[in-house]
Amino acid sequence: MPAGPCGDAEPQAAVPVAGGLDALKRAVEAEFPFCESLAGATACVFGEGDPTADLVFVGEAPGADEDRLGRPFVGAAGRKLDEIIKAMGLERDEVYICNVLKARPPGNRTPLPDEVAQATPWLYGQLRLIRPSVIVALGGPAAKLLLQTGQGITRLRGRMGVWQDPDSDLSIPVMPTFHPAYLLRNYTPEVRGQVWQDMQAVMGVMGRD
Ligand code: URA
Repeated sequence: MPAGPCGDAEPQAAVPVAGGLDALKRAVEAEFPFCESLAGATACVFGEGDPTADLVFVGEAPGADEDRLGRPFVGAAGRKLDEIIKAMGLERDEVYICNVLKARPPGNRTPLPDEVAQATPWLYGQLRLIRPSVIVALGGPAAKLLLQTGQGITRLRGRMGVWQDPDSDLSIPVMPTFHPAYLLRNYTPEVRGQVWQDMQAVMGVMGRD
């Protein structure tokens, strides 16, 4: 097989989690920018929030604002996500927010399969350490990875699935929903209602009204 943009490095096996999220973050940062195809990125965007959060949001990949600041969801889509979190009766620092990819793809293109394969053990390591009661997959790439399906987000959204950790017996409910950037582009009563319905199901799993 020809080497992909991430070289011929095998996707990593389960990452060490002994040192907690901080150690995992340092290990991920040491690999930045991870793939030749991500060499234009300037910052590693690992994720942030409560390391014991009940709820984890997983997006696709950092954009320009995230790349500039080294933090996830801080641009327009991030402000929409903040509104969603508030509407759920939560504060941003009470949840954990991260992405499938930890570096910005050029021009914000969709992550390549090689890039996703490279980053998957890091995301799984984060989830294994945080052990939330529920995960929200924001958009297609996160939903497809966590639910191990080829189906698109329009088919998937609104139906609670399960993330099964391939390296342990940990399994966590996953709600696939539209990405906040999609919501911004399609700010219709229908799409807003669908996202809110999805978040209400998430709040139900968390035992909140
Ligand atoms: N879109 C994402 O998927 N993640 C971010 O962090 C920002 C925008």
